[in-house]
Amino acid sequence: MSLKRIIIHPDPRLKKICEPVSGVSPELRRLASDMLETMYDAPGIGLAAPQVGVLERLFVMDVCAKESAPEPRVLINPRITWKSEDENTYEEGCLSIPGIYEDVTRPASVRMVFKDIDGKDHEEEFIGMAATCAQHELDHLDGTLFLDYLSGIKRRMITAKMKKLKKERARNE
Ligand code: NI
Repeated sequence: MSLKRIIIHPDPRLKKICEPVSGVSPELRRLASDMLETMYDAPGIGLAAPQVGVLERLFVMDVCAKESAPEPRVLINPRITWKSEDENTYEEGCLSIPGIYEDVTRPASVRMVFKDIDGKDHEEEFIGMAATCAQHELDHLDGTLFLDYLSGIKRRMITAKMKKLKKERARNE
C-alpha cells in the first residue's frame, strides 16, 4: 500500500467526467486500498479517484464516528436511483480544497447502485452525513466540486486562495 498525492483545485483533472470501471482487477484493488489509506491519512471521510489523478468512476468513504471501528467502503460505478425531496445542509470540505468549509444543501437521502471491490452489485440507501458524503464523492466523478454550489464570488475567492496555496507548496518542495 502507498499514499497517493491528492490533487489540489484548480486542476483540469478535477473537472473531467470519469470513465466507467470496466472490471475489478488486482490493479483496481490496489488503487482502492491506496485511496483508503490516503483518505485515512489525510484525514478525510471520502476520496474519489480523480482526486488522485485516476479518471475512473470509483470512490472510497468512511463516515463512521471517530471512536468506532473503521468502516471502509469502496463504491464502483455508483449511480443515483432515487433522491429524497427533503434536503439537508452540511458544512462540507474537500481534500482537494484544504482548509475550506462551506454549507451545501443536498437531498437528505439517496439510493445508489454500485459494485463493491469484489464486483458484487449493491443497491443501498444513504442517509444523513453518509448521503451528503456519497453525493459529494459521486459529484467528483462528473467533474463537479462543492464549490460549484457556491456563489461565483465565493468560488473565485476560494480558487484564488488555492492557487496561492499550490504556489507555496511548490516552492517548499
Ligand atoms: Ni471532495
